Amino acid sequence: MEKIYITTPLYYVNDEPHIGHAYTTILADVINRYYQSIGYKTFMLTGTDEHGLKVQQAAIKNNVTPKQHVDDYVNRFKEIWKKLNIKYDYFIRTTDPSHIRNVQKILRNLYDKGDIYLDEYEGLYSVSEERFITEKEAEEGEFREIKKIKEKNYFFKMSKYQKKLISHIENNKDFIKPKTRRNEILSFLKKPLNDLCISRPKIRLEWGIEVPFDKDYVTYVWFDALLNYINGVGWNNNNEEFRNWWPANYHLMGKDIITTHAVYWPTMLMACDLELPKTLLAHGWWLTDENKMSKSIGNVVKPLDLVDEFGVDSLRYYLMRNMVLGQDASFSRESFIKRYNSDLANDYGNVINRITILIQKNFDGLCPEPGSYKEVENNIINFSNIVVSKVEDNMKKLKIHDALECTLSLIREINKYLEIKQPWKLIKVDKSQKSEAATCLYVAAELLRISSTLLYPYMPEKTILALTSLSQKEINHNLGFGQLKPNSTIKSPGVLFPRIEE
Ligand code: MSP
Repeated sequence: MEKIYITTPLYYVNDEPHIGHAYTTILADVINRYYQSIGYKTFMLTGTDEHGLKVQQAAIKNNVTPKQHVDDYVNRFKEIWKKLNIKYDYFIRTTDPSHIRNVQKILRNLYDKGDIYLDEYEGLYSVSEERFITEKEAEEGEFREIKKIKEKNYFFKMSKYQKKLISHIENNKDFIKPKTRRNEILSFLKKPLNDLCISRPKIRLEWGIEVPFDKDYVTYVWFDALLNYINGVGWNNNNEEFRNWWPANYHLMGKDIITTHAVYWPTMLMACDLELPKTLLAHGWWLTDENKMSKSIGNVVKPLDLVDEFGVDSLRYYLMRNMVLGQDASFSRESFIKRYNSDLANDYGNVINRITILIQKNFDGLCPEPGSYKEVENNIINFSNIVVSKVEDNMKKLKIHDALECTLSLIREINKYLEIKQPWKLIKVDKSQKSEAATCLYVAAELLRISSTLLYPYMPEKTILALTSLSQKEINHNLGFGQLKPNSTIKSPGVLFPRIEE
């Protein structure tokens, strides 16, 4: 059986979960559910990044220990994922004892191997970002609280793996997606790569994983957090459980953290003699009025507010449909309502209502038996087969919004087909089995089954209601035409997507 292992970034536990975080996690859930529905063995990992100065400072401010602080804050993420219908397999926290043990084991291995060394370093340090920065980065003005620091620290020999990394990226065109990010990383790698400072002295920062060979230091948060991707599937010196899942198929992230994932992480894996993940996918940002949504700017849209108002599926649909993977997208309440009304209330909702109500009223709530198909039926069945294979192709290429648009085109075709055939008129002439009305409604109901199955990964709640109304008790990914059984019960699920009037 084929497998898919998919991850989200570990969110900083101190952050207020917002649409940006929700987007990546829903995207992972959609891809995960899609592969599950076509019979893959899947594993989805998410979690929280819990060490570092900000947590330490927040805990002091609240008069609690850092551990008490993160134990409290982590629930906000867990609750929101529950509300957004995220079906992850494991939630990893960087304060989990097993994660800490593994990080220390890896540090020890790399130290013994000579890939980690102690050195004195003098350079610019951004306190807010908790890392050393170059002169150029300091000039660009993106970093705050910059200090000149001279101290002894441990370094990972990242430079040793530079050539190997470049050739891996060049030889694996799907390793970094989209292409713009791949080019960005390749051009970054044209300059000599520095070694990576992977420790922080405890006198400056205590809240971290202690370096196993020097109790005066803790581990740099990124070195700690990136290792979650192997620890989350049970890494323990290449044991069998781990080998079942590793390498990851997709690491999903926003474009701001592609360098840590495409440079630090693969060189760390090379040093550990582990395979590299198949694909790193960097998506764009959700913007409000052209600005990145972020807590410090104060323009954050809270996903839960929209869920409470319009339901979880419509938010999931909107986020997946309105962002072209790799590009930025603008969030606004108006665009949300517009998308909802056109695609969900008008197109999908309308098809569900029309078909189920007509069958319920005129065929005693039983799926009619179709007669022979004419050209118009053969055309739409053919169209559906094309859509099914295009959706599969788009999903495999991670063209999520294209996959959705393609499915919506099928739904619009069903509506058009109903307009042409006008079954509400045909019924008045003849509503016996195999009549033209019966044929039309059978074809439409079966196409509704197919399109609802295609929409299931995006809208798991509403599509299950639609499928249940067609007597489909579970997701049947046989999307060839003709699965619906004549005489099975068909019952209207009620209005699933009421129009939003504002
Ligand atoms: N803790 C690190 C990741 C460690 S992974 C081993 C981190 N956390 S974060 O909470 O700041 O960000 C997590 C993710 O949210 C990133 O992928 C980031 O790109 C994404 N987003 C944060 N704001 C965003 C938007 N406004 N829009 C879309 N995604 C953005 O970085």
